[in-house]
This record gives sequence, structure tokens and C-alpha cells, in this order.
Amino acid sequence: MKPLIDLIRTKSSQRVPIWFMRQAGRYLPEYRALRAQQPDFLKFCYTPKLAVEATLQPLKRYDLDAAILFSDILVIPHALGQHVGFEEGVGPILGDFHLKNLKIDRLEQTLSPVFEILTTLRACLPPHISLIGFSGAPWTLYCYMIEGRGKRGFSKAIAWGQENPQQFREVMELLTDAVVAYLKHQVRAGAEVVQLFDTWAGEAPQDLYEIGVVKPVTKIVKELKAFSAQVPLMGFPKNIGERIVPYVKETGIDVLSLDPTFNPEALAQILPQTVYQGGLDPELVVLGGEAMIKKADTYLKAFKNRPYIFNLGHGLLPKTPPENVQKLIDHVRKMNVDG
Ligand code: CP3
Repeated sequence: MKPLIDLIRTKSSQRVPIWFMRQAGRYLPEYRALRAQQPDFLKFCYTPKLAVEATLQPLKRYDLDAAILFSDILVIPHALGQHVGFEEGVGPILGDFHLKNLKIDRLEQTLSPVFEILTTLRACLPPHISLIGFSGAPWTLYCYMIEGRGKRGFSKAIAWGQENPQQFREVMELLTDAVVAYLKHQVRAGAEVVQLFDTWAGEAPQDLYEIGVVKPVTKIVKELKAFSAQVPLMGFPKNIGERIVPYVKETGIDVLSLDPTFNPEALAQILPQTVYQGGLDPELVVLGGEAMIKKADTYLKAFKNRPYIFNLGHGLLPKTPPENVQKLIDHVRKMNVDG
């Protein structure tokens, strides 16, 4: 009935469901047209009519198994009271970080449009499409909140955590509570599965990793499971390398989203109980052609007899030709039929 959720629950390897991180967004001309109606990106995310439409756009074009809520991970710092802006060509820019100014008590009210978006989507999506909610994981949110913007190498965030161990714990606890509250509201509103984006997990130095990455994610999974045992959690701990095995075992996530650095053949042997997702380098979808198809096949083959969800190793890039996405979907669907 719902290929994506059913696969996660039954751990079946019969059919490979497909969705893409950033399946909505700037590579689609219809998204760029819709976005032109609201130049302020946060306002766009908080306007149900626009965000619902943006979520549905890729499903109108492509045969996908899931819709992912259109929003952004940085709505959490915003809801906690930190200034968040998005600048054309630059990306997110956040206001100064002051722990004492962050308050969780207005989170539900500030993020209420997101819950309305999910409820509307759940009501209008066909029954075979799974609705994915999401949140940034605490460490990645923390990195943006301290650095003030997204860039490679989070030296300020790392130094702050190492120099202020007690406050670092406090921020992590606050962010963990915020993510738990946010995801519970998303589930209540209609999300059927949730993904934790930990894009900068690989940047965490060993002395901050347990408290910054593993402990928060473990608590989020535990609290969400206690709230609703039915809702699977997907984890995307990008670039954590060999820390992947203990991460999966300790956090208890149901689905592991792979980044392109993992070797799918090796992983399939090491963690045979896990449901895997993604892995293909999004640059290959920009390129298209044989290179894209060949690499997609390495994932399909490596996970042939395992529960596997087709996706990428990171979000679709703005320069991706939409026809390459179509070709990739056609190929994965054909492999399902041909074996
Ligand atoms: O996957 C989807 O289709 C849902 C939408 C979604 C967006 N952001 C929309 C977006 C999701 C799941 C995110 C998550 C997100 N946001 C992450 C984690 C995943 C990842 O990509 O690493 C991160 C780190 C962010 C923070 C963020 N938001 C950055 C760094 C930027 C600027 C860079 C960029 O790609 O533009 C954004 C803006 C953003 N988020 C856009 C979209 C469609 C572009 C905004 C626009 O339309 O101008």
C-alpha cells in the first residue's frame, strides 16, 4: 500500500522505493516561478499555500514514493529566537548566538504553519505516497547557530564547544528538546516517517562527538519511539566514516542514509540488519548519461537482497537537468521489473 513505509517496517527487499533529498527546489523551473512570489525564503517556508505547492511539484513530474515536507532545518534556531535570514547567492545568515536568549516556549506557535502544511499534505496525497517530515540534528543546527552561516570547516563551533563544555551540554540539551518537540508535532500533524539531517556530523571532533552527535540523536530516537512506535526514523550522519557502525547500533535509527563516501558493498556486509537509503553522488545526476546509470547500478546491486531505498548521497543540486532525474527514476523502476 505504501511502498516506502512498508519496506522499512517489513524489511522487504522486493521493490526499491525512490525519493530524493531536495527533490523540490531550484533545479525545477516551476519551483523558481513559485519562489518568485515570495522573495523571503523563511516566509516562503511559513506560507502553507506556497510550501504545499513546492512539496507537490516533484510528485507532479515524477513517479516518486514519498513527499518530503518543504521547509528548512534552520526554522529551529528561528523558533528559538535567533535571527535567521537567507541571502541570494550566499545562503543562510544567522544573528549573534546568545544561549540565554534562546527560548523553547514559543516553538509550537512559531512553527504552527509547518504543522498546517503537513496536515494539508497528508489530506491531499494519494495513499501510496509516504509523507516525510524532518529536522536538522542538534550538532548541525549548533554549527550554523555558532558560525552564523554555512561553510566548510566549523572552527568557531568546535572551539566554542571545547572551551565551554558545560554550556555546550546545555545547548545540546536545549536543541535535543526542541527537535523532540518539533518532531512530535510533525507526527501529530501527519508525518509518517521523519529524517534527521546531520550534514556536519563528520566535522565533529572526537571530544565533542559523543555529547554533540550520538547522545542527542539517541535521545531523539528514544523519545520519538516512546511517542509513536509506528513512525520510523531516518538518520543522515554525513561523512562520519568509520564511526558509522557504532552510530547505527547506539542511536537505534531505522534507516541509514548514506553519503557518497561509503562503499555500499562493504557496508551491506557490516550492517546486514539495517535499512539503507541513498548514496549516489548528486554530481552524477548533474552529469547524467552512462556515468550516472553505472554508479546507480552499483548501489542497486550491492543492496539487491537487502531493504534499500533509492536516493542520493546529498540533496539534488540546483544545476541538475530535470530530465536526468527522470532518466534515473526510469532506470530504477526498470531494474525493479527486470531484476
Ligand atoms: O528535500 C527537500 O525537498 C525538502 C526541502 C529542504 C530544504 N532544505 C529546502 C531549501 C530540506 C530537507 C533542507 C534541509 C537543509 N537545509 C539542510 C540539510 C540537508 C543538506 O542539504 O545538507 C541544510 C544544511 C540546510 C541549510 C540551508 N538551507 C542552506 C545551507 C541553504 C543555502 C544553500 C542552498 O542550497 O541554497 C538553504 C536554503 C534552501 N533550503 C533552499 C531550499 C530549496 C534554497 C532556497 C531558495 O529557494 O533560494
